[in-house]
Order: sequence, then C-alpha cells, then structure tokens
Amino acid sequence: MKTLNVGLVGCGNIGTEFVQIFDDRRARLADKTGIELALPRIAVADLGKTRPAHIASRRLTDNATAIVEDPDIDIVVELIGGVTAAHDLVLRALRAGKSVVTGNKELVASAGAELYAQAAASGVDFLFEAATVAAVPIIRPLRESLLDEPITQLAGILNGTTNYILTRMSRDNIDYARALELAQSYGYAEPNPAADVEGADSAAKLAILASLAFNRGVTLDDVEYEGISGIERIDIEIAHHLNYEIKLISFAETVHDGHESEPLIRIKVFPALVPLNHPLAAVSDTYNAVYIKAQDAGELMFYGQGAGRRPTASALMGDLVDAALNRSRGVSRMVPIKGQATVDDNRGISSPFYLRMEVDDHRGVLSKVSGILANRGISIRVLEQHDTLHGAAQLVFLTHTTTDKEFSAAVDELKCIPEVIRIGRSMRIFFEH
Ligand SMILES: NC(=O)c1ccc[n+]([C@@H]2O[C@H](COP(=O)([O-])OP(=O)(O)OC[C@H]3O[C@@H](n4cnc5c(N)ncnc54)[C@H](OP(=O)(O)O)[C@@H]3O)[C@@H](O)[C@H]2O)c1
Repeated sequence: MKTLNVGLVGCGNIGTEFVQIFDDRRARLADKTGIELALPRIAVADLGKTRPAHIASRRLTDNATAIVEDPDIDIVVELIGGVTAAHDLVLRALRAGKSVVTGNKELVASAGAELYAQAAASGVDFLFEAATVAAVPIIRPLRESLLDEPITQLAGILNGTTNYILTRMSRDNIDYARALELAQSYGYAEPNPAADVEGADSAAKLAILASLAFNRGVTLDDVEYEGISGIERIDIEIAHHLNYEIKLISFAETVHDGHESEPLIRIKVFPALVPLNHPLAAVSDTYNAVYIKAQDAGELMFYGQGAGRRPTASALMGDLVDAALNRSRGVSRMVPIKGQATVDDNRGISSPFYLRMEVDDHRGVLSKVSGILANRGISIRVLEQHDTLHGAAQLVFLTHTTTDKEFSAAVDELKCIPEVIRIGRSMRIFFEH
C-alpha cells in the first residue's frame, strides 16, 4: 500500500474539524483507494493553546515553513486564513513540489491565477473546493465536467449569513436589525458582520467562480458589490405581494461589445427581486446555490450548505483524496487560467427595476416622476400607490428592462424633485422569463 504524508498548516475552527474527519475516514479511504494517508505534522501559531484531545501535542509545531519545505510531506493543507503568510507558505509548498489544498477564499480570490500557474509549472495540484460555498461541489464541475463548455452566465447565492437574514425578514416579517441579531445569536453572523452583509464575502467567492467559468483571471478588486443593509421590511412585503423574494445575488456574465475579440466580463454583487418561480427564490436559510447558464448544457443549479465546520472539512477531504489519487498516479490535472479578464464597468447590465419612493401627496407629482422615467426611455410595468402613516404617498414602480446607466441617471434626477421626500432602496429584478 502506498503511503502519503499530509502536513496541516493552521488548526483553528476548520482545521480541528478537518483532523477529526481525517482520522475518522482514514481506514475507509485506504480500503477504497489503496492509499494510506498519514497526518504527522500540524502547524499552529501558539503552542501553548489548549486544544481538543484528538489534536495530539506530539503532532504540533509552530514552524509552518518547516512543514511546507519538509521533503517527507507530499500534500499541504492550508487553513490559517488571511493572505500574506498563507500566500508565502502556499507558494513555497508548490515550488517544493507539494500539492496544496486550501479553504482560503481571500487567498484564491487575490492570487488564484498565480498559484494555479505555479502548480501547473511544478506538476502538482492546487485545489480549493472549500474556498467557495463549502460542501457544494462547484469548483470541480467547473474545472472538469464544464471545462470546455461555453458558460454565458453565472448567478449565485454565495453567502449564508445574508441569506439567513433575508429569509428571517421574509418568513417572520421582522426588520433587518432584528434578523441580524438573530443571525448573531445562532453564530451565523460575526459580531462585526460587515464582510458578509456588505457583500465583500460574496464578491471574493464570485471572483473565484468567474475565473473558472470564463477561464480568465478575475480578482476581488474587479468585483463591484452592494450589500443588504439598506433593505427594509416594507421592501420584502411589497416583493411578496408582487410574487418575488429578495436575495443577494452574485452575478457574472460575458458580453461581446462588437469591437473586442475577447468578451467583456460583467461582474457584480447586488440585492435583487427574484421571481418566486425561479429556483434561486427557494434557496433559504443558510443554504447557498450556484446557477449556471451554458451554451450546450443549458441551465444548471448546484445547491447545499455553503459554510460551517463539518461541510467545509468534508470539502477539504474531497480535495485531499483527489490530490492523493493524482499523486499516487504521478499526474496533476491543472489547467492554468488564461490571462486577465477584461472587466466591464457594468453600466450596461440590463434588467427591469423595482423603485420605491415617498412623495408629497400632491396633484402632478406622479406625472413629474413618470416624465423623468419616460425621458430616459424607461417604461413602467407596474405602478402602485400606498398611503404612509404621515400622510405622504408611497409610490412603487416596476419598470420594463433598462440599463444600470439609464436607471441610475433617472434616480439622480428624481432626487432633485422637491416633492420627493425619500427614495428607498431600488433593486434589480432578475431572472424574469
Ligand atoms: N468558518 C467557515 O465556515 C469557513 C468556510 C470555508 C472556508 N473557511 C476558511 O478556512 C480557513 C481557516 O478558518 P478558521 O475559521 O479555521 O480560522 P481560525 O480558527 O482563525 O484558525 C486559524 C489557524 O491558523 C493558525 N495560524 C495562524 N497563523 C499561523 C502561522 N503563521 N503559522 C502557523 N499557524 C498559524 C492558528 O493558530 P492558533 O490555533 O495557535 O491560533 C489557527 O490554528 C480560512 O481561510 C477561512 O476563510 C472557513
């Protein structure tokens, strides 16, 4: 039986769970594959910390570099998080001819193409299924089954925290602040939830998925993002009444502008109204999903638990088995990403829009508002008027399809009308057939 040695760098929340799954599954794996995996060394920052019993102190070191340069280690699993130290360690490991498995989305979103290229040059694997939507298998399908499939659009619900908050607002008719409190009390949101609720976490995952889907390097800096913090309970109520759910959508598509031979990539994270009959509308609680439109394969959807210790550790194990099988056969299956993406300014993303505003309840206001929209070529599909508590009128518009550019210019003009008291959160309407 062939034995391969694994070195683990980082043993916190995820690393501790990973060691548990590794120990539980080792014998079954050896039986199935004929490969014996050993985990002789684990690097941590603080050797003095108390750890669970299954993390034996004889395996621990505080010298991560010694692990990634140890000639007896075949595969490195990186779970320290962050970019600087992780980047240095992963690069060293790949240069030293070791395959690397990581769950670090910040690292892959900022330096994925470089690490990919190094792995290909060294003839080893660089695998990161756990870095996006944890246990949902999406990286491997993009890298293998769909490798040469022309993918035109990718849209996902990539963050469990925001999906949980929106689900609670929708299901329990509570406001954003209360739903966030509940998410924090169940451990689904951090004490400082900014990275999740403002969209940065989704943007990092989207950069990784778009790089693979379109085979062009996309980094976190290329992704514009908006979060969910301005969404009010009334937006959810109105969305329901009109047969939509509000979801934080991570969206990327390719477009041909007619001049460039390379397609442009539009990429953005934003909250949107999703029709109830679209599969993404039914993705609730902490679940995640990735929806893909491909030229020949058609529409595909991948769904499951996108975070959490156990699902993440399971995804890491899947990659480890893959790396071990490849290594035992003396192969690597890296296809390097081809160059940097040309990213569009997104002004041309087109969709219908939802717009809510509070106006003075005077004769003539409605025609002023409609006039501004009409001047921008934006036609109105639905208009509803509701009274507010303080005697103003609440106007709700659903428009026909228009571009971001025209819609945001119209909103800027609407803000200048004296009778407009407040413009609420406007949102795209997505996936309307
Ligand atoms: N939480 C999730 O649901 C989830 C899901 C998918 C992916 N991930 C990713 O998984 C990774 C790990 O997350 P986590 O929550 O497990 O982090 P964590 O609890 O903060 O653990 C980090 C570990 O790295 C060790 N460490 C830090 N700097 C080190 C260094 N220079 N050398 C050696 N060890 C070092 C720490 O040592 P000490 O123990 O001594 O402090 C700790 O064991 C992150 O990239 C995260 O984004 C997490």
